[in-house]
Amino acid sequence: MFAHAAAGYGGHGTLCGALGVCSCIINLVLYDKDETYKAAIDRMMYWYSESIFPTERFDDISPIPKQVSTKAMTPLCHTSVSKWTLAAGEQVTSKEKKERCAKVTGEVVYTVVHYLNEYFEGRWKPKKWTPSKEITHCVECHGPDDMWHSADGMNNQQGHMECLLCHDDHTE
Ligand code: HEC
Ligand code: HEC
Repeated sequence: MFAHAAAGYGGHGTLCGALGVCSCIINLVLYDKDETYKAAIDRMMYWYSESIFPTERFDDISPIPKQVSTKAMTPLCHTSVSKWTLAAGEQVTSKEKKERCAKVTGEVVYTVVHYLNEYFEGRWKPKKWTPSKEITHCVECHGPDDMWHSADGMNNQQGHMECLLCHDDHTE
């Protein structure tokens, strides 16, 4: 049903498909007057960016346990996959890479189900995104951190990604 999301949507390596599909589900399920879906999607995205994937959660049922793991730093399929293939020395069409992405997808679904359970059990207290210490000063000048918050700062960047993955720190 969500086959279109594979390989970062139509093979373009944009958003990790697992995140895109889970965003759809979160939007449908947590569409309340507090707009909980926004906080839930935000939390999922920065959790993913910060995570070291794949985890060992599925190793008992995996034909390829104990894989090399890396941190993507963004929700982008391209960076998530390429940082891993580089570290693992594998090609993108390899069965190792497919197994790695299957585990990442499983981990995203597991985590999002956990969020939904928290919400329906009345334990939902989403952490607000805060920039890492490396980019706090970037966001202070170039903020706001995204289009839903205040319009303080230079107001010329949108997003919660780790700036230094793509930009140099011109203040150094
Ligand atoms: C003290 C305020 C300040 C801080 C801190 C700061 N910037 Fe800037 N940044 C500026 C200003 C001012 C400009 C120039 C704006 C312009 O030319 O429109 C700029 C320009 C840029 C540009 C555009 C460069 C270009 O080619 O036009 C990028 C990208 C950028 N900053 C990224 C960052 C990142 C990433 C960080 C943190 C590592 C950061 N900035 C920290 C003030 C800041
Ligand atoms: C995935 C890569 C990527 C990440 C992560 C990223 N940027 Fe950018 N950013 C770009 C690209 C590409 C441009 C287009 C201009 C360029 O090539 O430098 C850009 C442009 C900008 C500009 C110029 C906008 C303008 O209107 O002048 C600013 C400012 C900026 N980014 C700040 C940031 C800040 C702050 C962060 C972190 C919160 C960040 N970027 C994260 C890729 C990225």
